[in-house]
Formats: sequence, structure tokens, C-alpha cells
Amino acid sequence: MKRIGVSIIGVGSISESSHIPSLMKIPCAKLTSICDIRPERLKLLGTKYNIKKMFLNYKDAIDDSDTNAVIIATNAYSHAEIALYAIKKKKPVFLEKPITLLIPHAEMIVEESKKNKVPIMIGYQLRFLPNHTLTKSYMKKYIGQVYSIYIRAETLVIKPAESLLIDYGTHFFDLIRYYLNDQKIVSISGQVIYDKNKIQIAATALLEFESGIHATIELFWLPDFNWGVVDRSLTIVGSKGKISTKMSGPDITLWRSESFRDKMLGPKNILPKETVNPYLPLSDLCYLKELETFFYCLRNKTKMPSNAEDGLKALQIADYILKSFTKGKKFSGLKI
Ligand SMILES: NC(=O)c1ccc[n+]([C@@H]2O[C@H](COP(=O)([O-])OP(=O)(O)OC[C@H]3O[C@@H](n4cnc5c(N)ncnc54)[C@H](O)[C@@H]3O)[C@@H](O)[C@H]2O)c1
Repeated sequence: MKRIGVSIIGVGSISESSHIPSLMKIPCAKLTSICDIRPERLKLLGTKYNIKKMFLNYKDAIDDSDTNAVIIATNAYSHAEIALYAIKKKKPVFLEKPITLLIPHAEMIVEESKKNKVPIMIGYQLRFLPNHTLTKSYMKKYIGQVYSIYIRAETLVIKPAESLLIDYGTHFFDLIRYYLNDQKIVSISGQVIYDKNKIQIAATALLEFESGIHATIELFWLPDFNWGVVDRSLTIVGSKGKISTKMSGPDITLWRSESFRDKMLGPKNILPKETVNPYLPLSDLCYLKELETFFYCLRNKTKMPSNAEDGLKALQIADYILKSFTKGKKFSGLKI
């Protein structure tokens, strides 16, 4: 089996902590080169991982004959330019979230990838956490008709220039669409709070899906807190019970109105078996699974689970929330 040669463009923190170590564990992929505008990053990571080919210009990395696919993990403002060049050169792309910062650029990526038949996957890794996979299957099985999804997501780190809604919020807009199998959103309203430096520090949004399901999302950027106190969780309420999980797992809490056990003893706590892995922390597991999925889809020519259109939709949701706040109105009659 010929391995898929991969060039990573942008070897900053996420590439170092997640993409390079994950690639090393995927037998069908081979890291053939790295690219960054900072020579010191190339030197550091090239030496650490014994990577011979290093490029300062993304075009050289994409054009290289060993490059069959690219991982783009540069800062979001450069995603469109680099992704569009890779598409033009017919090289499949794993593109870190957010797809881009501007909707017209994201639309261009969607159009060009379709026109050129170049697969794109956007790096929304929460889809690959075992607690979410299991919560989704239990949601279908146990809690009847779903009424609402509630997400509260506090964080210490965002890229303030890329905004709380886009840099952080799009993770959860994508996750809700994953839970509801890409069901269309028909209305969006939202509120945003800015600090004195005009940086988004909090946002609340209400999304209504075409089946009538409501999703409420609360986002907070709390840079002075610590990870021990931040709250990141998801709760789904249905006609026959409710289910909740912490955003990064590991366990799930399920309560079923039709279960004698749950009525007598209260909610059941479930630990998905995949989450008990002493060698691979959950955060690393989901980055590995998302890249494995990217290569699986490439090899088998199947649809990427979070493709360019999904990336565009997550960005459109962020945009409507912001517009709802600035114009003071709810947007109805949507089909996102
Ligand atoms: N999925 C996640 O949970 C997650 C987590 C962190 C970051 N990210 C995303 O990954 C991307 C990178 O984030 P990061 O935290 O690693 O940022 P970073 O600033 O640490 O790294 C970005 C790297 O890209 C390089 N770069 C910038 N422009 C370039 C260009 N034109 N050509 C080549 N290299 C270029 C920079 O020099 C830097 O080394 C962002 O889109 C971010 O939103 C995703």
C-alpha cells in the first residue's frame, strides 16, 4: 500500500501538540514536509521529527512531488489563500477550523472544492470524542422526541482577533449540527458582550431547527480563570428523559422516564469504554481519530464528516448571531 504523502503548512502550537504526533501513528500517511513562515519553527520541528523537506512558502510545499495531501494549520486569516491554492493543484486538504474568517472566502472554498472535486475536511474534533459519539446514539435510543440542546462553554484561551464566536463558538455550532444530522436551521438570534477593548467576551445564541428543536449556546472567554473552574457541558432534553456530558468527556449522565431503575436511583453515570485509555488522553484521541477519518475518507473516496460546506455553515451561524446582536433582531426563514 502506497502511503499518502502529507505536507503540514503552519507548524505552530496545534501542529506540534496534535497533528504531527497523530500523523506519526497513522500507517497509511507519511509526513513528507513541513512549511512555516518562521524559519525557527521549521528548524525546531524538522530536527525533532527528522523531517528533511522544509519550506518557507506554502506554494512550494503544495507543489512538491511528494505532497499528495495537505494539512493547513496556519492562522485563520491565511486559510482561504492557501486552501484555494491547494484545491487548484488538486491536493486534498485537512483545514484547521475555522474554515476562514470571511463568508465570501468560505463560499469560494466550497465552490472551488466542488468544481475541482477536491475533498476538504475542517478540523472540528469534538465530533470524534467518544462521549459525544455515545451521547448521540443514546439520544436517539432513550430520550424520545428531542426538545432542546443546551451548551455552556467557557474557555481560558481564544484568539481574540478572530473573535469568540468564530474562533471558539464555531466548534459548538458544528457539534450541534453533528448531533442533529445537519438538520436545517430556520431562525437565529443572539447577544454578544464586549470588553473595553472591543473584544467579544461572552455570547448567547438561540437556534431553531426545522423540526422545532431549540439549541441554546452560551460562550464565555475567561482568561483570568483556571481550567479547574470553567464549565463546558452539553445537555439534551427530550420527551422521555435527558442526557448530558462534559464537553471533553469522559462520562455521560442519562436519565430515562421509562426506566424503573432511573426513577428509583436517579441518573445513570456511564463511562464509554474508549475513554479509559491510559496511553492516550481523550484530547489526543479525538485529534488522532479526526485525522484517521480524513485518510480513511481519502482512501475510500467517501464524504468527509465535516466538509467545506459544514465549515461554511458554522461560520454563517456565527455571522447571524453577530448580525442579530448588532441589528437587534431575530433572523427567521433561514435555511442553513
Ligand atoms: N481544533 C482545535 O481545537 C484547535 C486548537 C488550536 C488551534 N486551532 C486552529 O489551528 C490554526 C492554528 O492555530 P495555532 O494555535 O497552532 O496557531 P499558531 O499561531 O501557534 O500557529 C500558526 C503557525 O502558522 C504559521 N503561519 C502563518 N501564516 C503562514 C503562511 N502563510 N504560511 C506558512 N505558515 C504560516 C505561523 O508562523 C505559525 O507557526 C488556527 O486556525 C486555529 O484556529 C484549532
